[in-house]
Amino acid sequence: MGQTLLQALRGTQDLLPGASAGWHALEERLRACLRAYHYREIRTPLLEDVALFQRSVGETTDIVQKEMYVFADRGGRQIALRPEATASIVRAYIEHSLDKQGTLAKLYYLGPMFRGERPQAGRLRQFHQIGVEAIGSTDPLLDAEVIALAHALLAAAGLRRMQIALNTVGCPEDKQRNAARLKQSLATHEHALCEDCRSRLTRNVFRVLDCKQSGCRNIVRQVVGQGPLLECCAACRTHFQMVKDALRALGVTHTEDPAMVRGLDYYTRTVFEVTHPALGAKDAVGAGGRYDRLVADLGGPETGAIGFALGWERLIMAVEEEQPEICHTAAATQGDIFIVTLTPEARAHGLALAQQLRREGLIVDMDFEERSLKAQLRQANRGSFAYAALLGASELRDGVVTLKDLKAGTQEQIPTERLADELRQRCQR
Ligand code: HAM
Repeated sequence: MGQTLLQALRGTQDLLPGASAGWHALEERLRACLRAYHYREIRTPLLEDVALFQRSVGETTDIVQKEMYVFADRGGRQIALRPEATASIVRAYIEHSLDKQGTLAKLYYLGPMFRGERPQAGRLRQFHQIGVEAIGSTDPLLDAEVIALAHALLAAAGLRRMQIALNTVGCPEDKQRNAARLKQSLATHEHALCEDCRSRLTRNVFRVLDCKQSGCRNIVRQVVGQGPLLECCAACRTHFQMVKDALRALGVTHTEDPAMVRGLDYYTRTVFEVTHPALGAKDAVGAGGRYDRLVADLGGPETGAIGFALGWERLIMAVEEEQPEICHTAAATQGDIFIVTLTPEARAHGLALAQQLRREGLIVDMDFEERSLKAQLRQANRGSFAYAALLGASELRDGVVTLKDLKAGTQEQIPTERLADELRQRCQR
């Protein structure tokens, strides 16, 4: 009886070797850019106490209410697979007293996140983010630098057609005032809202703005059309103006979107989204904003912070459309030398020779299937090796290898002890 073939879960992806080289090439470009802005990498666990996300992203958000993977571990504790990293990094910042290091913490991360959304193009259940968090300052110039960094990362990935939209959601007092106003405007439509939104009306009215139900979306559109959604105090308006002025001075083009409230509760003041035509306007390549209350709310010191995350798979989609050669050049990375063995005795020597050449920094492989000479040469060509070293009875006897240049088709004999030097020079290792 045949068994059902097991497959990867819906919304998860295998990254095969043909694609991983492109990921590496892109990752290296982005890491170099992050280093230039003086960010250092932080890695936090994929598993966290579920309360961390309830208290930061927010209990009434879609992410926490509908999308988070939560399970009871063997000790009965409620554990979440992280749906995002900002909360984890703030937890780590507090837990390891990073504020005591006396300066702004500029941290970056790259890794998988988990959200049980309906899978579709650009929307996965396990996806990756590359993101930054700058914790320890409320300076509007930092907002400008962080947004400029988001732009610089996309530029480092070879993209030019990204668009940045900005808004300010104000301080906690502004948010409270705006929530009351929004509640009033939506109250007249209460009967037409979905059940979730009726409860959001009292628990967290901003989340009505993120609802994906078409009935609620229509009502939101009407309310947005009636006038400015968010009004901010003078200090928040000045902060926002300084951010925009600084961005203009840096030459980072952006638009303003006064209706943008992001789907996570922790944001205060500046919020932004980055879109790219490869994905359409609905799905952002990346997004972020300030969260000046979160560190204190999670038990840390009173301190401002701002960050963003780019969706890695969405970034790849944009690069595939605008600059496909970046991924594909990397995929064609060459091997240096393939050792072709012609006798059983030569195989043992070949194994040792491969080890020795690798120690010299060369990319080396050999046959492990006892194939014919022709098949081994075919394998060398398929693996994009530059050279093949033929090793048979006569080569072993004479202490040489027959070095075949696989592009030119020429071949010559080289003493085995000179092989490493010769190859290092030719392959520029
Ligand atoms: P977010 O807007 O929830 O923000 O996610 C940031 C980016 O992650 C999105 O713009 C998108 O590119 C990608 N993304 C989100 N969900 C999915 C999915 N299901 N499949 C594929 N890609 C996805 C945050 O996560 C915040 N932590 C960003 C931040 C950092 N704010 C301040 N600091």
